[in-house]
Amino acid sequence: MSTATVAWRSPSNIAIIKYWGKHGLQLPRNSSISFTLSTAYTDTRIEFAEAPEHHIAYRYDGEINEAFAPRVVKFINSLHHEIPVLSRLSLSIDSVNSFPHSSGIASSASFMSSLALSLCEIEAKMTGTELDMQKVSHIARLGSGSACRSIFPVLGLWGTHDEVQGSSDMHAIAMADHAAEIYADYHNDILIVSSEKKSVSSTAGHALMDGHVYEAARYAQARSNMSQCLEALRSGDAHALGRILEEEALSLHGLMMNSSSSYILLKPKTLTAIERIRNFRAETGHPLYFSLDAGPNIHLLYPASIRDAVLSWRQEQLDPLCERVLEDRVGEGPINLIS
Ligand code: DP6
Repeated sequence: MSTATVAWRSPSNIAIIKYWGKHGLQLPRNSSISFTLSTAYTDTRIEFAEAPEHHIAYRYDGEINEAFAPRVVKFINSLHHEIPVLSRLSLSIDSVNSFPHSSGIASSASFMSSLALSLCEIEAKMTGTELDMQKVSHIARLGSGSACRSIFPVLGLWGTHDEVQGSSDMHAIAMADHAAEIYADYHNDILIVSSEKKSVSSTAGHALMDGHVYEAARYAQARSNMSQCLEALRSGDAHALGRILEEEALSLHGLMMNSSSSYILLKPKTLTAIERIRNFRAETGHPLYFSLDAGPNIHLLYPASIRDAVLSWRQEQLDPLCERVLEDRVGEGPINLIS
């Protein structure tokens, strides 16, 4: 067999209900749901060929990445049961992000989802089958939990929740059909308050949930917030959604601060930005709310209808607090770069 190529672009996502705490093989302690983004993405291209000796090469932005390559190789080698054809192939993998590597934005969701899409497409091509998005999401989850949600347009939900038929701990499901039109082009400006590398990895953070003093209370809160979130998505009530966004973001950081080995990822400028966002909301009544990932950077979420009012205010009040701002919005999910 000669060499063939697959290539996928996959976006990052921002969780409304946060995944924080896991068990077993990448299984979540609570269900989570996220907006799929568009301009923050990873492109992954894989050249593959049948070869007597299975070999994997990984480059980021054209260069061998000594720190990350072993993790990628180990992950792919762990998939031989899920994707048996891989053991007969040599793979040459190249990935690159649309956003600066050191911008402080987590790239595992976009990278692992683009990798899972590419690996599953190789299998589909070699076995003459259709690409199965449920399987792609399952593989992405094994790479990084939050990645399994990026596969779907607009919204992805991961983890079993009683009120959502078909929801599963094994993979995410599409949720765009369950949301009002207002969310299809929701804005998400990412305010990079600090691009310093995180002091504690997500994996270590998840582990601190085991035996956490608020463990049971957190999972009960996530369940109840998920139910309210589904209603706010259905009804299009941006204020109701925003209240949940902020509660989830601050709970996530509260859990970090309260864990047995406490840590704080928020910076003073994060708190200043939060105060200004809340003042803007109180003064204008506009549904402008924030979220946070496991880091100090603010995700500013709002409907397209208030874009003009937000932009001029943001440039004056928030941009000076930031190293840079990446303007993103909710998007249509992954793109096949070859077909
Ligand atoms: C705070 O998906 O990065 O972003 O499964 O260990 O790779 P691993 O963790 P990861 O955790 C992300 C947690 C979060 C919240 C979320 O995206 O739901």
